[in-house]
Amino acid sequence: MARFIEFTGGDVAAYLRAQENKDLLRFITCGSVDDGKSTLIGRLLYEAKMLFEDQLSALEADSKKVGTQGGALDFALLVDGLAAEREQGITIDVAYRAFTTDKRKFIVADTPGHEQYTRNMATGASTADLAVILIDARKGVLTQTRRHTYIVSLLGIRNIVVAVNKMDLIGYSREAFEEIEADYRSFAQSLGLTDIKVIPVSALVGDNVILKSAAMQWYHGPTLMAHLETVPIGGTSNTKPFRLPVQWVNRPDQGFRGFCGTIAAGTIRKGDAVKVIPSGRTSRVARIVTFDGDLDNAIAGQSVTVTLDDEVDVSRGDVLCAAGDPVSAADQFEARILWMGDEPMLPGRPYLIKIGTRTVNGALESPKYKVNVNTLEHVAAKTLTLNEIGVCNLDLGAPVAFTPYDENRELGGFIIIDRFTNNTVGMGLVNFALRRASNVHWQALDVTKSARGRKAGQRPTVLWFTGLSGAGKSTIANLVEKKLHAQGHITYLLDGDNIRHGLNKDLGFTDADRVENIRRVAEVAKLMADAGLIVLVSFISPFRSERLMARELLEPGEFVEIFVDTPLAEAEKRDVKGLYAKARRGEIKNFTGIDSAYERPENPELLIDTTARQPSEAAEQIVDYLDRNGRLEPERNGDK
Ligand code: ADX
Repeated sequence: MARFIEFTGGDVAAYLRAQENKDLLRFITCGSVDDGKSTLIGRLLYEAKMLFEDQLSALEADSKKVGTQGGALDFALLVDGLAAEREQGITIDVAYRAFTTDKRKFIVADTPGHEQYTRNMATGASTADLAVILIDARKGVLTQTRRHTYIVSLLGIRNIVVAVNKMDLIGYSREAFEEIEADYRSFAQSLGLTDIKVIPVSALVGDNVILKSAAMQWYHGPTLMAHLETVPIGGTSNTKPFRLPVQWVNRPDQGFRGFCGTIAAGTIRKGDAVKVIPSGRTSRVARIVTFDGDLDNAIAGQSVTVTLDDEVDVSRGDVLCAAGDPVSAADQFEARILWMGDEPMLPGRPYLIKIGTRTVNGALESPKYKVNVNTLEHVAAKTLTLNEIGVCNLDLGAPVAFTPYDENRELGGFIIIDRFTNNTVGMGLVNFALRRASNVHWQALDVTKSARGRKAGQRPTVLWFTGLSGAGKSTIANLVEKKLHAQGHITYLLDGDNIRHGLNKDLGFTDADRVENIRRVAEVAKLMADAGLIVLVSFISPFRSERLMARELLEPGEFVEIFVDTPLAEAEKRDVKGLYAKARRGEIKNFTGIDSAYERPENPELLIDTTARQPSEAAEQIVDYLDRNGRLEPERNGDK
């Protein structure tokens, strides 16, 4: 996820170095613009004297011109002005601002507050030690307050400050404040959160932000700033075992091979024994190289390049670990998922999963449950939609190094990316690895796919016919099979309507069921190809992701995507099975092309325009394609 880093203190590295002796509190503010979030951050920066002269004079001018405060400084303009600029670039999610006081330095993650920006909030929260949750005193605890609290607790934040803002608008009422406090505490306690400070403030007037409020003598606690400056924050992760997720391998010449990344936990010294996960190979640290020269040791948070004594194989995404206490590797997990996609999650669909520095294919199973963020109840669910949180099993295409999220945020948190749009559609936190099927090994067989293919006089191939219902897929596939059969080839035709009578008779036509329908038939086609056959698959298979999944199950050249391109109007006119008429009358729901999507193939091996040619011509074209690509003769120099 891209991040916009904005430092009022100038260059971040120099800034942090200069401030090295003070400790650092990273926090996030949660709430919507209406709750006064921008005003609060603006007030903090202003009163902490963290604004530059030019920012101040611009703010004064803007406040006079467009401000809502009758010429007085309107802090919302300062922060919102920056936010508006940010929003012009679509990839920008979170602004980080740094400031410092005599006691501490701070980095605050500011995230847009609208409901649909939960994802930005979660991004900001994933690096924070503390969350400031804003409540509008006039509105009290809202669903959004509960959602934000739930997410920050999910992401491991244990320190919460509730700023009950706009106290000036409710006449600084102690009763109203105490009611909100009690309401919030009872919710937070059910989440197991106990480190909570509730502070009555007015960001606009400045009550209890930095200066104590004269209007609220009844409040004896600290101001917001006083609390932020003194709240104890958890120890560093230096005492934990060493973990370095490898960001990239630096290989400028034959003589140097360094593994670069930011140390996620622990300490490392020259000569330490390390283990590479997932491969399990071990070696010793030869050098710790940084921009400023070699180090004898390095700690969590530092970016380093490590070289090893031996030529062990290490690639991007691997994790270098303390040899005596390495992380585990697994390919199946239970995880808490926060869904951020506009489209619902599709169980079984392959997404990209980025965990640590590794990106692999992975599919989520149907949720075990989702969580009602108001009541914290577990609710049965088939999928997760925007902003929903649930628990799912995750199945990855390859083993990855990991820790449970509660042990290490970097190695236990992952993001979920759509393979076609490249959008981040969710984030997840690893609970634990699943041990199921871990003792099942792949059995090597002596008779191989190519040996079976040779015996059948062909190269095993999957002809994947896709297109609308009634496009002519089955008619053409049937003719192709007849031709191949007549030539002595060994074939099988998997037809959607037929498979739905048996293997897939438990599936309907929701998006999720179609994903599973295709997943199963793709696996069956793969087995049949392994048996040496030429397999014809005739399914609508409306989604690109699942056609890609099927392709990826096979070897290059084995998968031939055939788009039977019949326009909807034409398929509907023919309406061989009378289903379009029924769908139009509303008697069939989720009908492809009517109220369910069909995603056209972008690069099929073959495109058949059924308005321009007869089925028999199409069949000839396909057999000709197979012939020209050598699929109809046995592999010659196979050795098995
Ligand atoms: S797929 O989308 O999951 O690939 P599949 O090819 O198995 O679909 O099944 C499609 C066949 O089911 C159609 O040819 C049609 O005969 C029948 N059918 C019944 N209901 C629907 C529907 N809602 N959408 C599409 N096809 C349907």
